Amino acid sequence: MEICVIGAGYVGLVTSTCLAFLGNRVVACESNKDKLKQLESGKVPFYEPGLEELMGKMIASGCLSFDSDLETAIKAADVIFIAVGTPPTQSGEPDMSQVMAVARGIGAALDAKKPRIIVNKSTVPVGSGNWVEMLVNQGVEAIQMVPARSARQDSPQFSVVSNPEFLREGSAIFDTLYPDRIVVGSGDERADATMRELYKPILMQSFQAPSVSPRPDGMAQVAFVSTDLASAEMIKYSANAFLAMKISFSNEVAGLCEKVGADVRQVMKGIGLDARIGSRFLNAGIGWGGSCFKKDVQALIGVAREYNCPTSLLEATISVNERQRLTVITKLQEELKILKGRTIGLMGLSFKPNTDDLRDAASITIASHLIKMGAQVKAYDPVAASNCFHQHPELDIVYCHSLKELANQADALILVTEWDDFLSCDWPDLAKCMRKPILIDGRNFLPEQALTDAGFIYRGIGH
Ligand SMILES: NC(=O)c1ccc[n+]([C@@H]2O[C@H](COP(=O)([O-])OP(=O)(O)OC[C@H]3O[C@@H](n4cnc5c(N)ncnc54)[C@H](O)[C@@H]3O)[C@@H](O)[C@H]2O)c1
Repeated sequence: MEICVIGAGYVGLVTSTCLAFLGNRVVACESNKDKLKQLESGKVPFYEPGLEELMGKMIASGCLSFDSDLETAIKAADVIFIAVGTPPTQSGEPDMSQVMAVARGIGAALDAKKPRIIVNKSTVPVGSGNWVEMLVNQGVEAIQMVPARSARQDSPQFSVVSNPEFLREGSAIFDTLYPDRIVVGSGDERADATMRELYKPILMQSFQAPSVSPRPDGMAQVAFVSTDLASAEMIKYSANAFLAMKISFSNEVAGLCEKVGADVRQVMKGIGLDARIGSRFLNAGIGWGGSCFKKDVQALIGVAREYNCPTSLLEATISVNERQRLTVITKLQEELKILKGRTIGLMGLSFKPNTDDLRDAASITIASHLIKMGAQVKAYDPVAASNCFHQHPELDIVYCHSLKELANQADALILVTEWDDFLSCDWPDLAKCMRKPILIDGRNFLPEQALTDAGFIYRGIGH
């Protein structure tokens, strides 16, 4: 099929590359000129394992190209994906201005040569499918008023569908090619059938797996969940809210475990083996972050407010997470008493491993609190340091090039991001160069015994 994807960020670029890999011809439309230049030269503007290699192959095969002009980009398209950002505003509501501009732009650029499907992949509040349809129509009408453009005799035909995205940064190609399910919300049978056809290679797992992301053992056919528009939009928000709630639940229980002398790791293992609960997303630590969870939980609360529905669970999910980030500072105070004048090293900055994304990262909250309290903050991250330096000039952080440099003369270390590289440290060597070998493991990730054997005072979360 001929595909256009508007917005070549984390979601749009992965979608474009994977749809090209599955045999479609894809034009990715990106309005940021710097990003576009990088993409055209084969560079991915963010860190995502395997993506640059696969994207390079797709560009070379002629299946993937880039453009900045919406009108040119959508000309040949049968299916047009909207994958622009919906970042949170100060009040927590999603900023829909990018979606609005794109929807009107699509309307202005559509012709009547063939029917199109407009797919909302951006995460948007319930009701946005109808709203996008209205905006596209506004774009269509606006252009029909322009005499020079009224050569377009017939009205363009289009359907709007919702196709929420569930990929995780760091494993985005894997999640796109081997998803748990594909959800499509639509009120139009023809659009639903086209989307099913587009995703057929994934649904049937009939493609040859790419070397950057081998097919997992036992991968079966993928479920296609066909719903109405509003239900698809609710599925996305509810899924993220539920995952965030699982982590916040573990963290609340972790606090209690510390008081009663239990170990949250054993408790979560014990409850996670219950198939009704499931073992994933039960890790206690400094909580969730990233571009989606907080934004989507807040947006769901916003929708509920419009309908006067109570949201106690959703509100608690956020407040537990905010509280949880600061537990590592409480632990530092218990160990060091005074934090003023101390040097604290942050191991990791990105909101999770295998990404350089710092959106709603715990590291930023922790660093700004420590700095406010008079501590000096050092940080080491294998890929996210440069983003932190450029995106957070307000934070006076000393960036280090290795864990050894981070540990040197530090009063304590905090494990913020569970990068695999951190598992293979020479712990005795690190302990020796610190002023005090204290390590707060914010993810319950590091080998406790090896650390204590090396002379560290080790503190985890919930045990
Ligand atoms: N990042 C994730 O892990 C993730 C996962 C699931 C869903 N989502 C959702 O997907 C959407 C996109 O997220 P993202 O992380 O990819 O955002 P992003 O900010 O990384 O990417 C959005 C891109 O759209 C481009 N853009 C904006 N307006 C444009 C226009 N008019 N024409 C062309 N390009 C335009 C921006 O320059 C940017 O490159 C959001 O709604 C998000 O909530 C994200």
